[in-house]
Amino acid sequence: MSTDLQTPAPAATQSQNDDILLSVKDLHVWFELKKWGFSHVGWVRAVDNVNFDLKRSEAIAIVGESGCGKSSLMKTLLLLNRPREGQVIFEGKDISRLKGKELKWYRSQVGYVQQDPYGALPPFMPVHRILDEPLVINGVKDKRERQRRIRTALEEVALTPVEDVLNKYPHMLSGGQQQRVVIARAMILEPKLLVADEPVSMLDASVRVEILRLLRKLQEEHNLSVMYITHDLSTVRFFSERIFVMYAGKLVEQTHIEGLLDNPLHPYTVALLTGTSEPDAANARKLKEVPPGEPPSLVNPPAGCRFHPRCAHAIAGVCDVDEPPDFEPVPGHVVKCWLYKEGRTSYPEA
Ligand SMILES: Nc1ncnc2c1ncn2[C@@H]1O[C@H](COP(=O)(O)OP(=O)(O)OP(=O)(O)O)[C@@H](O)[C@H]1O
Ligand code: SF4
Ligand SMILES: [Mg+2]
Repeated sequence: MSTDLQTPAPAATQSQNDDILLSVKDLHVWFELKKWGFSHVGWVRAVDNVNFDLKRSEAIAIVGESGCGKSSLMKTLLLLNRPREGQVIFEGKDISRLKGKELKWYRSQVGYVQQDPYGALPPFMPVHRILDEPLVINGVKDKRERQRRIRTALEEVALTPVEDVLNKYPHMLSGGQQQRVVIARAMILEPKLLVADEPVSMLDASVRVEILRLLRKLQEEHNLSVMYITHDLSTVRFFSERIFVMYAGKLVEQTHIEGLLDNPLHPYTVALLTGTSEPDAANARKLKEVPPGEPPSLVNPPAGCRFHPRCAHAIAGVCDVDEPPDFEPVPGHVVKCWLYKEGRTSYPEA
């Protein structure tokens, strides 16, 4: 792919398998909680010791209840939040503390699709300026080259005829069209990673599938890695290869989507899933909005397993004392739960 970005990539400092685009290692993201805005009260442990790898051209989904830390994790990968501890390794470079030109380089490698397209677009800029801005900032000096890229980006997101869209302001477009502009802007620097945080949840049901299809098409055509956050498991199967379940700042289960739907292991994942059938057999399981009970405080999380106050299988003296490590009861299927310590490979029958 062509790129005339002037900002060079920093040198790799870590050895990393070439198939892996991004590695997250022991990542902690905490926010300081202050009383009256100044006196320290505690820390919100929004992301607590998270580890995973993302392969090149792979799409992964992150699911979990509201407030479990999904956006905090994503914003840290975008360097909108800085980690308290841990590393984010992108193509062998630890990007978590980049500054200046190197930070600019990293930002050109990662596209961001926000939840609310209208809020994400500057209201007083026409579409051509919205798409021109990242090119100018990243040193694409040739105006004709910029115009060519803007047209290509709009064609790729099916906003055609391009002339009808170029001079429109965001408020003149429908929600679905606005989200296509957001996606075109995210793609215009030809990133290697696309981060999409609930990209269809604020759109009319009628356009959600179209936007997800578009994201899938772009992922396949550009060999993009994608991180997709959602509450809706029916769209996960459609969109991603692997799924990560997050609970109270921790990744509690990671596996291929079929593995999760056919053999969910973590009691929280099981609580999220219902047997509700949908018209489409492929989507036969759907996320419940809220499993019974309340998620814990992230300021004073429970000792041991953070799910233990809500868990029907909690083992007294174990789950409320010791935090479970990662077990891999089935190859490629990782779960943080003491139930899998002794070789069990499926969820206990009721
Ligand atoms: N900038 C911040 N300052 C303080 N606390 C924050 C900040 N950003 C997030 N939090 C807190 O971190 C926790 C995780 O929030 P986050 O937005 O990551 O959750 P989420 O899983 O994305 O939720 P939702 O599904 O509602 O978008 C919440 O308790 C939230 O209040
Ligand atoms: S570790 Fe214990 S409390 Fe936590 S999910 Fe597993 S069984 Fe339940
Ligand atoms: Mg969020």
